[in-house]
Amino acid sequence: MTDPRLSELAHLLPELKISTDPGDLEHHGRDWTRRWTPEPLAIAWPSSIEEVQGVVRWANAQGVAVVPSGGRTGLSGGAVAANGELVLSLDRMNRVLGFDPIDRTLTVQPGIALEAVHNAARERGLLYPVDFAARGSCQIGGNIATNAGGIRVIRYGNTRQWIAGLKVVTGTGDVLDLNRGLVKNASGYDLRHLVIGSEGTLGIVVEATLSLTSPPPPSQVMLLAVPAMDALMKVFAEARHRLRLEAFEFFTDRALHHVLAHGAQRPFDETHPFYVVTEFDAADERAEADALAFFEFCLGEGWVVDGAISSSEGQAAALWRLREGITESLAPHKPYKNDVSVRISAVPAFMAEMQDLLSAEYPHFDVVWFGHIGDGNLHINVLKPADLDNAVFVGQCEHVTSMLVETLARHGGSISAEHGIGLVKKPWLGSVRSEVEIALMRGIKAVWDPNGIMNPGKLL
Ligand code: MLT
Ligand code: ZN
Repeated sequence: MTDPRLSELAHLLPELKISTDPGDLEHHGRDWTRRWTPEPLAIAWPSSIEEVQGVVRWANAQGVAVVPSGGRTGLSGGAVAANGELVLSLDRMNRVLGFDPIDRTLTVQPGIALEAVHNAARERGLLYPVDFAARGSCQIGGNIATNAGGIRVIRYGNTRQWIAGLKVVTGTGDVLDLNRGLVKNASGYDLRHLVIGSEGTLGIVVEATLSLTSPPPPSQVMLLAVPAMDALMKVFAEARHRLRLEAFEFFTDRALHHVLAHGAQRPFDETHPFYVVTEFDAADERAEADALAFFEFCLGEGWVVDGAISSSEGQAAALWRLREGITESLAPHKPYKNDVSVRISAVPAFMAEMQDLLSAEYPHFDVVWFGHIGDGNLHINVLKPADLDNAVFVGQCEHVTSMLVETLARHGGSISAEHGIGLVKKPWLGSVRSEVEIALMRGIKAVWDPNGIMNPGKLL
């Protein structure tokens, strides 16, 4: 350890695993955005709350910035360390600490993968319902720091709804034990909810007590081919009315094109402008008959022109793959990503306006729309044309974001629905939050993290 600050850290916390290996710095200094060159000072892997506290106290004394690091599956640069920060990886704090069948809560360390939380809940006959494609790699601490959403928000809400208790090490190194699993707690400001979605700028989640729920009845997955956006919203309203929805997601033909090129099975002979993947309760024959009646009604109205329904878990997984495989299929193209939201009712008008602007200004762009349309949350990925210089592409994408910001403002939407602000959307925070709001956020940060060591440069 040549850096004296790190020697001091090793001296203070002899059990702490620290690395300055270039491979580790490269690997742990970046997230899925791949836009910044990682340049952390070192990576530290604490294995206890006391060690996290020790690292934060050392960081305050030494004036070293700390980047909390989970599975680094984020898409907004929230876990990037490109300025000599210490990356504090929660990988070693990945255990289930307890389960209470009366409270129906699972207490976990922050570095546990979301999928492991699902499995732990399932083994106890219960469900942790937040779910999305990165489930195998992302960690619950990161899910909490970003208030992760995903594919089942329409039924279960965001991560926020499932956090019954949180232990947090603040930017000053204090440990907070927030809400302690209480269902009711009217004792003033609920600081737990400040931490959820704070993107590591206030402190580090070191333990979480998660609420669990009863698993839903057996479900079915339906894929629908939809000829127009207006029809899609009618299908959505009808589905909400007739079915008990678990998920209602959409993607365009361009998205399907990329997933198919990535090895998925073509679902229909013909191509169609839009596709819906929806999952709903199908506990008995009556529920299945309702689903069929819903499909036939939509077909009769001309809102849907083709469809497929799962009759086995394998078929359900194959249909889901068409939606969940999109991100992976686009990754080799290094897409310029946007994750926006508008009110559900505003989706068709917003999309039409935005697509018109894009077609007029950048007809050569491959624009891929997909996402959680049942939540008004749209992912807009722009792919670089092969013959376009990267610097020119980046400049044009910045312009796309400006157009997006203006269009969102007209529709009262948000520049980030579920991926967070991080580094990627920071320049546009002021388009969705007022000056007073941002001043309040800065004030809160100054209290929790007076020396500004917690994930500086992100969000604010
Ligand atoms: C998704 O919904 O698939 C994720 O938010 C990831 C993405 O936007 O690429
Ligand atoms: Zn998403």
